[in-house]
Amino acid sequence: MLIAGSDTAAHRSVRVVKAAVYYETGSPDVFRYEDVPDPTVYPGGVLIDVEAISVEGGDTLNRAVGEMTGRPHIVGYQCAGTIRAVGEGVTDRQVGQKVVATMMSGSHAAMVVVPSIITWPIPDGADVIACACVPVAFGTAHDCLFEFGRLQAGESVLVQAGAGGVGLAAIQLAKRAGATVLATASSDERLSRIAPFGVDHGINYRDDGWVDAVRGATGGAGVNLVVDSVGGRVLVGSLQCLAYRGRCITVGQAGRDPQPLDVSVLAMGNQSLTGVFLGAEIVNERTRTMIGGLVDEVAAGSLQVLVDRTYPLADAAAAHAYIESRKAVGRVVLIP
Ligand SMILES: NC(=O)c1ccc[n+]([C@@H]2O[C@H](COP(=O)([O-])OP(=O)(O)OC[C@H]3O[C@@H](n4cnc5c(N)ncnc54)[C@H](OP(=O)(O)O)[C@@H]3O)[C@@H](O)[C@H]2O)c1
Repeated sequence: MLIAGSDTAAHRSVRVVKAAVYYETGSPDVFRYEDVPDPTVYPGGVLIDVEAISVEGGDTLNRAVGEMTGRPHIVGYQCAGTIRAVGEGVTDRQVGQKVVATMMSGSHAAMVVVPSIITWPIPDGADVIACACVPVAFGTAHDCLFEFGRLQAGESVLVQAGAGGVGLAAIQLAKRAGATVLATASSDERLSRIAPFGVDHGINYRDDGWVDAVRGATGGAGVNLVVDSVGGRVLVGSLQCLAYRGRCITVGQAGRDPQPLDVSVLAMGNQSLTGVFLGAEIVNERTRTMIGGLVDEVAAGSLQVLVDRTYPLADAAAAHAYIESRKAVGRVVLIP
């Protein structure tokens, strides 16, 4: 949108875009829906008209307690849309092309500018909303399972918070890799909704005996790998679920309950605990190629994105509140 600037004598115009911003971190009602100056494309960057914003687990955490780049701050790791302009030196992206993009912040806006290296083309005719949800969730799940988790066919894997974005991606990727998939969620109803994605054993981790249930489902042996995006008390239980030589990946803090962790429990079982951060890998060639392949697979329908609900960007507060109610299964998407 173009509005007249105050310097009318010079006939200058200021282009503004709508964004969901906040001036302080806190509960979802910190969001304000405001005009912000439009981002300007820079060398190596692409300017994107945003069509779908995938609300990532990290977005709700950052809104609650994260760092702010300024006041107001625009939160958000990921969105998709159509390239409006390309910066100097960009040769592999074109105006009019649809892409999905990642960023450290800024996705909750009608327009973003990002380095082209962290964009991935969306194939012609593909579902932009589904593709908007791929890079962080599926890329993280893939790295947890394979690059750092070293999952092999025939092994067992426990996916904590299986109804979350990372969880649903990990379930699908692990199942098709030939693993036995155990997954947790906070209700039996949520477990029934994720079962069709490849869950062999669903476990309600609101029940006190959930660690025993995991061990029981593996004949007492425990699992070869855990992907834990919850942390805190759940992470303590994840270590208790490991088989001899089992590997546990810690990749998130969705539970928001930091607990002191006694890692001495790992030694007797020759077990390991590895942290994973996709952001540290995302610009390398391996990861970019891996994510590009995952976007193509979602576009082709061989991997599924489950979109629970969409909200207008103006209702970002309601969208974040819905996610934090723990009723969402899969992704919640904002539409500018
Ligand atoms: N390190 C990395 O590179 C990386 C990359 C992506 C994501 N992450 C992190 O991984 C975590 C999950 O991300 P995501 O995108 O999968 O999130 P999401 O889609 O919002 O799902 C989070 C899941 O966590 C569960 N959960 C457990 N305790 C919760 C609580 N107190 N409040 C809300 N949800 C709770 C919920 O399922 P139940 O109700 O069934 O328990 C929910 O489905 C986040 O902490 C995120 O920051 C890290």
